[in-house]
Amino acid sequence: MGPVDPAATPPPDVVNCHELEALARERLTPQAFAYVAGGSGDEHTLAWNVEAWSRIRLAPRFLVDVSSIDTTLRLLGHDLASPVVLAPTASHRLFHPDGELETVRGAAAAEALYVQSTLATVAVGEVGAAATGPWWFQVYIQRDRGFTAELVARAEDAGASALVLTVDLPVLGARDTDRRNSLGLPVGVEYANLRGLELVPDDLPPARRVYNPHLDPTVTWRDVDWLSSVARVPVVLKGVLRADDARRCLDHDVAAVVVSNHGARNLDTVPATVEALPGVVAAVDGRLPVLVDGGIRRGTDVAKALILGATAVLIGRPYVWGLAVHGAAGVKLVVDMLRTELEMAMGLLGAPTLADLGPDLLWDASGEPLR
Ligand SMILES: Cc1cc2nc3c(=O)[nH]c(=O)nc-3n(C[C@H](O)[C@H](O)[C@H](O)COP(=O)(O)O)c2cc1C
Repeated sequence: MGPVDPAATPPPDVVNCHELEALARERLTPQAFAYVAGGSGDEHTLAWNVEAWSRIRLAPRFLVDVSSIDTTLRLLGHDLASPVVLAPTASHRLFHPDGELETVRGAAAAEALYVQSTLATVAVGEVGAAATGPWWFQVYIQRDRGFTAELVARAEDAGASALVLTVDLPVLGARDTDRRNSLGLPVGVEYANLRGLELVPDDLPPARRVYNPHLDPTVTWRDVDWLSSVARVPVVLKGVLRADDARRCLDHDVAAVVVSNHGARNLDTVPATVEALPGVVAAVDGRLPVLVDGGIRRGTDVAKALILGATAVLIGRPYVWGLAVHGAAGVKLVVDMLRTELEMAMGLLGAPTLADLGPDLLWDASGEPLR
């Protein structure tokens, strides 16, 4: 499949993320679909991530002039069209022949910030060359720090304007379905950014395997400082759930935090991210932008995240479904749908700008809006 011009290609006939998921299930192999869909363990947190957003009740203000609705924001020096960012997700060539090249085209067409994964299947230099909008690079620190520093430099040279250090995966999560499927990359598909990296051999049988050869289990706060010391661009920490960890970011050279449980793919029974968000927002006390991801499927979810103090949200699975169904145009479609739903939510809430999305828009149990 050649490059898709996202502007020229008619989008598939879907009106929400759920319909796109159903189409992705039809298009992908059962193994690839399960890789995207799955969580860890008994997938309690996977369900909570989505449910928890729906449990929050809204308290709209009416008789507000909403003739103009503005979803724009400024984030780490970028002017963004909406607070919907594309989260780092691995292995896009499992979902589209052009992989991350297609994703970055879709992101640009949607005017959305894209975070490319270390575990991409197209090299960061090629993705950077294809990018016409802003993008960040997600870092998994490798055991070989020299290789990691060199990879970071490659990403920066290619145009990454921030590094997103993922901290919530020191060891493997219990991804039963992937283990049952013995999920690996198909022939001809590789982790292009890790070419030449010497992996630590792991001879353990699958039932005893705990460590991921692509992740260093020794990483600590010292390595956050190490990454900041080699980085030429801001460092964002992804995977923060605890308020004390969020507070600790203030003592390190961290530019933003992402409240995330990795899409419920690592430690099952951690809380839904929306439950962790208020504690992190309170802990950083306005000194850093707080982003959140996990289970965001509707514009109302985006609005709720901002009402609770997030600056922006990231989406993972939804844009992967879009990529699988319709390449770049599918990625753009997902962002467009969420942005339109967000505009509807803002209009209906009486909140014409993102700054108007305040805590008084939450309905409390006594039947009164919260003040
Ligand atoms: C298929 C898939 C691959 C992922 N790969 C990565 C990755 O390489 N690095 C990372 O930091 N997070 C990764 N994540 C987690 C996402 O960045 C994000 O935290 C999560 O998908 C958000 O939840 P959502 O899918 O419910 O929107 C991955 C998620 C999925 C679904």
